[in-house]
Amino acid sequence: MGRLRVSARVGREGRGRSSARERSRSSSPSRWSQTPNALISRLRPYTFRVLGCIAFLGLLYVAWPRASYKASNRARAVEFRSPQAWSNGVDVDDAATRRKAVAGNSAVTTGPNLAVKVTTNLRDLAEQGINAILNGRTSPTREQLGELLTTVPPKHQTMRFQVCNGFANQRLSVVYGVLLAHRLGRTPVLPVLMRDGIQRTDATVTAQGANKVDFSEVYDLTYFLYEMAKAGIRILEPHEAPMHSAYMDVSLGTLGANVTGALNASYGHVRHLSVDCPLFKMTPQEMNQHEDEPVIWAALDAMRPADKLYEYVERMQHAIKQLGGVGGKPAPKYNFLHLRMENDWVEHCKRWSSIPDGVVRDNCYNNTEEMDVQLRLFAFSTDVPLYVASYWDDVDPDRAKAVMGRLVDAGYRVITSAEVFPDAMRSEGREMRALVEYHVGFGANRFIGNSVSTFAALALLERRHRGQWAAYYNGGNLPIAPYLPVHKLPWVFTYNSWSGKYDYMLKAAVRSAAHFNTLKPYCIFDGNTSSPIGRWLVDNKVTMIRHVPTWRQELLQKAQARMKENLQHSHLYKNPDALVSTFQRVDLPVVPILDQYTYVLYTDADVYFRRAIHLDDFGLPLPRSVSMSYEFYKMFPYNAGIIMANLPTMRRNYKKFLAMMLDNDNGLYYPNYGPADQGIINKFYEHDLRSQMLNQAFNTKPYNDFDPLSYLIHYHGPKPHEYLSYLDTGVCDFYNVCEQGFLKSLCQYAREWAVYIPEEMVATRLADSCTWLTNPTIMSVFQKKTGLVQPGQVVPDDKKQEFTQKTHHRRLRL
Ligand SMILES: *[C@@H]1O[C@H](CO)[C@@H](O)[C@H](O)[C@H]1NC(C)=O
Ligand SMILES: *[C@@H]1O[C@H](CO)[C@@H](O)[C@H](O)[C@H]1NC(C)=O
Ligand SMILES: *[C@@H]1O[C@H](CO)[C@@H](O)[C@H](O)[C@H]1NC(C)=O
Ligand SMILES: *[C@@H]1O[C@H](CO)[C@@H](O)[C@H](O)[C@H]1NC(C)=O
Repeated sequence: MGRLRVSARVGREGRGRSSARERSRSSSPSRWSQTPNALISRLRPYTFRVLGCIAFLGLLYVAWPRASYKASNRARAVEFRSPQAWSNGVDVDDAATRRKAVAGNSAVTTGPNLAVKVTTNLRDLAEQGINAILNGRTSPTREQLGELLTTVPPKHQTMRFQVCNGFANQRLSVVYGVLLAHRLGRTPVLPVLMRDGIQRTDATVTAQGANKVDFSEVYDLTYFLYEMAKAGIRILEPHEAPMHSAYMDVSLGTLGANVTGALNASYGHVRHLSVDCPLFKMTPQEMNQHEDEPVIWAALDAMRPADKLYEYVERMQHAIKQLGGVGGKPAPKYNFLHLRMENDWVEHCKRWSSIPDGVVRDNCYNNTEEMDVQLRLFAFSTDVPLYVASYWDDVDPDRAKAVMGRLVDAGYRVITSAEVFPDAMRSEGREMRALVEYHVGFGANRFIGNSVSTFAALALLERRHRGQWAAYYNGGNLPIAPYLPVHKLPWVFTYNSWSGKYDYMLKAAVRSAAHFNTLKPYCIFDGNTSSPIGRWLVDNKVTMIRHVPTWRQELLQKAQARMKENLQHSHLYKNPDALVSTFQRVDLPVVPILDQYTYVLYTDADVYFRRAIHLDDFGLPLPRSVSMSYEFYKMFPYNAGIIMANLPTMRRNYKKFLAMMLDNDNGLYYPNYGPADQGIINKFYEHDLRSQMLNQAFNTKPYNDFDPLSYLIHYHGPKPHEYLSYLDTGVCDFYNVCEQGFLKSLCQYAREWAVYIPEEMVATRLADSCTWLTNPTIMSVFQKKTGLVQPGQVVPDDKKQEFTQKTHHRRLRL
């Protein structure tokens, strides 16, 4: 009830407020309605380079002896080269059963309409070749760099910092070092990196002796300095910095919870400061997403492999496509699995899960041994070769055989480093090899890894930042997110081009989300995308999804067959488009672009956000399937207007869910659970819903008491224009709910909300009326007039469900 429904064809064009931050964000290639034209115009200048590139690759293919990228003769290669070797250990019947079990997910790869397929194909294209060309290897020259640096002189104070541990930790150390120096108003000095940062204990590993390697051997130095200077951050090369003896050493671990504050307070006067490895030394409370995010992305985007390592990346990509091809033709693309199952990881997971600090850590080793099931749940096609990255030297052979055997039996064409590492690379340090694999991961069509691994978590964040598909297989959360405030929680809503009278609410929702900038907005859109609201959404960085459910016809038939009974419950059943539209949310797990996510936040369009929302804010452990909160009353069934959805679980259940949804003697009404999509979601997921309720702070209603900590206000029941018309006419379509709103928290929220849509009359009028009602005399007249001071008029408990459904019914007649 009270969720956005249907009807009017009023369309208004709103002038999009576009903040500097919004403008500077580059357009995402996944925004389908822009993609074709944008892509073509971006491509045009590159046509010759593309042709040249193709010709070059062709030559390379002909000229390059296949043996050069074939496996070396190291013993482990024999074990990992032959897919047959893996499949032996696995019971074939078992494998067949599993295949059947996941066959129910076939809808995952079927069903999208042509527009989505075209989008997906264009995106694939973008992900593979074009990015490499657009982000090309053209480097600024040293002269260009020198010229730019004259505009970014070094600061009076400088800071040296160390890096520690393996490849991803070193990459992050650089980010934190630059960030910390930037916050302190100091010029950072480029650190020395390490060839081998393997952690044999929990102690950090730092650069010593022969293990040291110059930054320029790992990353493209000129590019890094140039890109950072463009972001306004000058970095000193070691030879430009004062001598080590000029520096005062400080150990960050001794500074307490507020590292920046303590450094500033105690060492603010010290001219040259040298700190140890800053990795994860700044607490989440100390991070400031708004200020830190641009610096973090500038540093990450600026670190691209040095030329020699980049050549290895290209050779590996080429080799993977060759080996993964069928019938002598190279594969057009490949997928990437970062499989964390080394012995050190097994040990790490035991320790990590049992840290006695009360934090829930429940997803370290999960699902590793049924990777075939996970890959199906994340729609990894067996037609695309799968590169599996692991540090094979340290993997228990039996474990490798079991896990990889299942992948092979499930039909995946598996390729490992043993087959495709260029021979020359074998003499490179451990972290150089990791860097090459990391970038091979950037070239993949799909990427999946373990979110507890820094390597995979960072790759996932960077890929999503570039608009590329990335997922994690271990369930739960992304533990790095609080320490690196750049993760965006996907937020999904459905909308259409014929609900013009609700556009103002949608705009407030989208703008409030953009204000906090921790959500990635997606709209499953129905109707005319050239309509004003369709264009507005695109202009406001909402990723638009076209999706025609496979069950559309069957649902409409069911509705038709039971038209008479259905209409008693809801007039929604009269309008096929509206009916399908409200049911769209049950397809969250099978919409192609969303298939990379473990959790998404679904909301109706009649909401606005009051605080930054992060995945962990929903409380750990995260929901096993779906989580929703109360409707009008504190009772079951719950309100499907806001859903925290676990997509892999929903995908696993999808077929059974649809069967229950469509096989119902009461048409599309579910006795005891209510009508339509809300009814069936409550029915199917009753157990999980009851056992883990969504906090009210994520579905706060303005007719309840004010909640200063609420994240999300839901105009459930009366919409702002209906509250206004109640003030004008004294008539409320929702019994006493309009009065309740004015007597409870509506006015406090409405004033915050109105700021997002200053051009909308409804918003200004409601805010003004509220100001007027804060006058105690007027309020007391209002209270007398509504007669609501006595709680006697409240609906009795045994009538509550009836009330809820009646209200629903009335709502839908709008
Ligand atoms: C950390 O200290 C700085 C400077 O003293 C202060 O501005 C900032 O608010 C503090 N941050 C936290 C989270 O305490
Ligand atoms: C550092 O301290 C100075 C005063 O001591 C203060 O003005 C400045 O805001 C502080 N900077 C940070 C980043 O805390
Ligand atoms: C991981 O597995 C453990 C043990 O089976 C389980 O208790 C936990 O809920 C799982 N975590 C997730 C996120 O699925
Ligand atoms: C879609 O909307 C645009 C803009 O309002 C209009 O010009 C166009 O005719 C509409 N297309 C259809 C198929 O209704």
